[in-house]
Amino acid sequence: MRRLVAETNLTVDDLIAPLFVREGIDQPQPILSLPGVSQHSIDSLRREVERLAALGVPAIMLFGVPVEKDGEGSQAWNPEGIVQVALRQLREDLGDDVVLMADLCLDEYTDHGHCGLVDDRGRVDNDATLNLYAEVACAQAEAGVDVVAPSGMMDGQVMAIRDALDEGDWTEVGILAYSAKYASAFYGPFRDAVDVTIVGGGDRAGYQQDWRNGREALDEIRLDVAEGADMVMVKPAVAYLDIVARARMEVDIPIAAYHVSGEYAMLKAAAQNGWIDGDAAALEVLTSIKRAGADMILTYLASEVAEVLAAR
Ligand code: PBG
Repeated sequence: MRRLVAETNLTVDDLIAPLFVREGIDQPQPILSLPGVSQHSIDSLRREVERLAALGVPAIMLFGVPVEKDGEGSQAWNPEGIVQVALRQLREDLGDDVVLMADLCLDEYTDHGHCGLVDDRGRVDNDATLNLYAEVACAQAEAGVDVVAPSGMMDGQVMAIRDALDEGDWTEVGILAYSAKYASAFYGPFRDAVDVTIVGGGDRAGYQQDWRNGREALDEIRLDVAEGADMVMVKPAVAYLDIVARARMEVDIPIAAYHVSGEYAMLKAAAQNGWIDGDAAALEVLTSIKRAGADMILTYLASEVAEVLAAR
């Protein structure tokens, strides 16, 4: 009876697996603050995506960790940059079996750790950054990405990327906009995962959103839809379910929510201590995100939850 009347059912079709690929390694490197998650070599990435595809996970989100970082983050748009190399390889391995999404940002590639260009007074230069995001979008498209996901929270980024993709004749490449992305303490383990330290102990509060604000998030979402986003994201997820629910009432395009690194790490830490039942908590948390109105969930739990769902 409970199955019959359940309002929300989490399925493998709702999941997007975030994956890290690191240049210059030949063995996967475990990430201590994200138990069970690794920085992949190209070969271990290929095996992991094969495994996810076999489990029925429909999409991945790729993050790159380059060997060389510089002021502009130029490895982000180098055709031989790690994400471009990985995308070409995965496309060759898998054809259209898995949706290939790539995070589009500069912070993994800049030596100062900010998501955009920094001027001589230490300010992030919004408009100069847009030109670089356009370059990254074209490089990822050339390498075979299906969906680019701008996460830098620069104003006007969706329009700049849409224009660049259309001019490059990549009209079919979609945009998943990290629209309502908060300046969150829950990104801590991710920054270990991509070896990012923000210069001078700085933060991203100048471009990411203040977690005291909800209406502002809706405004960001509306702007991104108007600029041409195909899907919008709320991030993090669990502390922002009210934003997911309000977004659901506002827009009819697909909504993604990102269950971020810190949210995953907390759940894992408690489960490893035997303080909570990890599988049960994972299903409950992800189902709640869907119940709030998300159509898809980015989560480091993707493969294990896919296994749990398949066994039921
Ligand atoms: C920026 C980016 C971040 C995450 C995804 N894209 C980090 C940040 O804004 O500092 C965080 C993801 C997570 O914590 O799981 N490129």
